[in-house]
Amino acid sequence: MERLVADNIERLIPYTPGKPIEELERELGITDVIKLASNENPVGPSPKVLEEITRAATEIHRYPDAAGFALRKDLAAFHDVTMEEICLGNGSNELIDIVVRAYASPDEHVVFGDPSFVCYWLAATAANVPFTKAPLRDGIHWDVDALLAAVKPETKVLFLANPNNPTGTHVGESELRRLLTELPPQVVLIMDEAYVQFADADDFESALGMRDLRERLVVLRTFSKAYGLAALRVGYAIGNPELIDYINRVRAPFNVGSLGQAAARVALADQEWVARYVEMNRVERARVSQGLRDQGFEVAPSQTNFVLANFGRPGKEIYDVLLRQGVIVRPMPPPIATWLRITIGTPEENDRLLGAVQELSR
Ligand SMILES: Cc1ncc(COP(=O)(O)O)c(C=O)c1O
Repeated sequence: MERLVADNIERLIPYTPGKPIEELERELGITDVIKLASNENPVGPSPKVLEEITRAATEIHRYPDAAGFALRKDLAAFHDVTMEEICLGNGSNELIDIVVRAYASPDEHVVFGDPSFVCYWLAATAANVPFTKAPLRDGIHWDVDALLAAVKPETKVLFLANPNNPTGTHVGESELRRLLTELPPQVVLIMDEAYVQFADADDFESALGMRDLRERLVVLRTFSKAYGLAALRVGYAIGNPELIDYINRVRAPFNVGSLGQAAARVALADQEWVARYVEMNRVERARVSQGLRDQGFEVAPSQTNFVLANFGRPGKEIYDVLLRQGVIVRPMPPPIATWLRITIGTPEENDRLLGAVQELSR
């Protein structure tokens, strides 16, 4: 038989999402499962968003605006850029896929961190573009020198999640400026800022304020995290009009639905709601981190809405014990297989988590 797929497709492993609440409730026959596994907003979007979705639902027999005009106009005003510098994606995940296909070919090369967001690997492998994983220092902290050392003459795309998933750590302003200037000019730097709203370290700075330092820079943002719209799949890219034009050529028509576009506009306008969640996350992130440290576990310094904690033995074992208590967290692959990634939930959910972890030592 002729082979069905190329080797790179054979190598793909489907993305493993966090275990759904309903699945665990079915398995355990219980009803109070909490999910702290996918870095979702635990309080949900602004109530104004829900009203808007009801209104927008009356139009779902029409295709959405393929150009995303109204949302891009709002985003342009919000970020003080032009509409030509913005395009929308079906979540920022789609944009991760598109930038590899748009800017790199199989005889070129991609760089990303290890550990970092697994979808960079998926995108490069699916597009059959060779890649190098640049190790983080101790598996936890960004190492700009390692990123630069991984770059070859044929490197076209470098992904940097700032702050990073799954470590929660960030690259500080001066190191980021150095990367932007020292990276060879042919490389398109993709700054994935999915968690930017949660970053509050003194030396954290979005790459949006550094666009004058580098022509080939694309910043990815999402409505899935701080805005609480994960199910609606809305992300966006900001870059110079030439970079954005090529993303637009590759993306599928109507890639962002009308409910998502309408909801994102209202979510963007309600910054007060976002600020309230971010503040709750700030307080609870410190409390959960300290609670885990008090129980003797190492916790990576987080700039996100999750923490990464080292349990000192295979994380999958701890994950299974927590599952039996109705708490879903996220086990990690090597090189951080003794760590678990835990999303910061509501105060009540975090109490459940800390209580369940306490049970481990009994
Ligand atoms: C670093 C990072 N980038 C991008 C995404 C994708 O988010 P979405 O496709 O929902 O916008 C995630 C989701 O977990 C993430 O952690």
